[in-house]
Amino acid sequence: MPKIKDPSLASRGELKIGWARTRMPVLSLLRSEYGSKKPLQGKRVGAGLHVTKETAVLVEALMSAGASVSVCASNPLSTQDDVAARLVDEGADVYAWKGMNNEEYYWAVNQVLASRPEIILDDGGDLTVAAIASNVQLDGGCEETTTGIIRARALEKQGKLRFPLIAVNDAETKWEFDNVYGTGQSALDGIIRATNILLAGKTVVVSGYGHVGRGIANRARGMGAEVIVTEVSPVNALKARMDGFRVTKMDEAAKIGDLFITATGNKSVITEEHFRLMKDGAVLANAGHFNVEIDVNALEKIAESKREVRDFNVEYDLGGKKLFLLAEGRLINLTAAEGHPSEVMDMSFSNQFLSALYLKDHGHEMKPGVHPVPREQDEQVALLKLRSMGIEIDTLTEEQESYLGGYGEGTS
Ligand SMILES: NC(=O)c1ccc[n+]([C@@H]2O[C@H](COP(=O)([O-])OP(=O)(O)OC[C@H]3O[C@@H](n4cnc5c(N)ncnc54)[C@H](O)[C@@H]3O)[C@@H](O)[C@H]2O)c1
Repeated sequence: MPKIKDPSLASRGELKIGWARTRMPVLSLLRSEYGSKKPLQGKRVGAGLHVTKETAVLVEALMSAGASVSVCASNPLSTQDDVAARLVDEGADVYAWKGMNNEEYYWAVNQVLASRPEIILDDGGDLTVAAIASNVQLDGGCEETTTGIIRARALEKQGKLRFPLIAVNDAETKWEFDNVYGTGQSALDGIIRATNILLAGKTVVVSGYGHVGRGIANRARGMGAEVIVTEVSPVNALKARMDGFRVTKMDEAAKIGDLFITATGNKSVITEEHFRLMKDGAVLANAGHFNVEIDVNALEKIAESKREVRDFNVEYDLGGKKLFLLAEGRLINLTAAEGHPSEVMDMSFSNQFLSALYLKDHGHEMKPGVHPVPREQDEQVALLKLRSMGIEIDTLTEEQESYLGGYGEGTS
């Protein structure tokens, strides 16, 4: 039996999903193509994804291709309850509601595994780790985010990943778009919804200048903020500097930032010593996968009191100054806003859909371990996306192909 917050929210969920469908042309195209062929007929798919309107469009495509789908959340605060209600009406088994506690969250993960999925679609690795601990037999899995890939590679290294897992995150049409433009926009959207602060004129500290950090830093600059980057990778720090950002250590940045956004996939990036250095009124938000980038426990410990001042915005009184923590330090864009815009999830979830089909056809012959998305799939998704945007590109002539494939023609 599915477990959601309120079945009566389904009609509002349908409106939201309808909006997303119209902005996900590539996935809609795949849905109609495979909806008639039914390649997933009889297959059981288990999804541990943020239950958003875009995820609903993916689940619809999977069901239309013949799969039965059970869904749990991949974050306790990211579920859109109206979308969950509509998905249940459409026949998916959903175990998710916004504001689940830890115990409920893992209960839901285990409900999905109890449906004995043959393919899992994960975001962050919780479903994958639980699947490994269970005796579920899988054709394989797909992983949506950087943190989940890091965990999968660690499992692989220790010889514990006993099924093939496709690194959907690492597809170029995912990592270079969803993480960069999707999070770049939606993280600021979440921060604005939770605070309504003006970004122009603020000093914004972005921790991590990888894909997500790069997107956020550039969009914050575009809105008039002065952006400071903190990094641990010399190469990415250099990229940030040459992109025009000031780069410094968190010990320095902590003293001057008005708004801090973590995007590292690491833990303890902002800690007690930094809270003590911060200015009165500083705002803290996280865009990385887990709620461990900002040391919330330390903030709780040193605060004299706290109170919720707006939705997803808690004021911590440190005696003499106040700091504001957004979304409990969890993914700001999925907690205080709606996650990424549908247009960018169109590419990510087309990759998830095609990877699930690939696993169904090839999973049995793939070795256990982390596998890249086939290059042809990446190019197919990019081409379909371009077409949906009305953009034509040139193709290589025979002469050019042979030139690029040869060594004979040099200085002339
Ligand atoms: N909010 C979302 O919707 C969303 C979307 C995509 C990815 N993510 C998550 O965001 C995180 C980052 O993903 P990514 O694709 O940008 O990864 P990435 O590997 O491209 O970048 C991470 C960067 O953080 C840096 N870093 C690591 N530890 C650091 C530290 N202590 N201080 C400063 N910098 C540090 C690394 O050097 C690297 O440059 C992951 O947890 C990922 O799962 C969230």
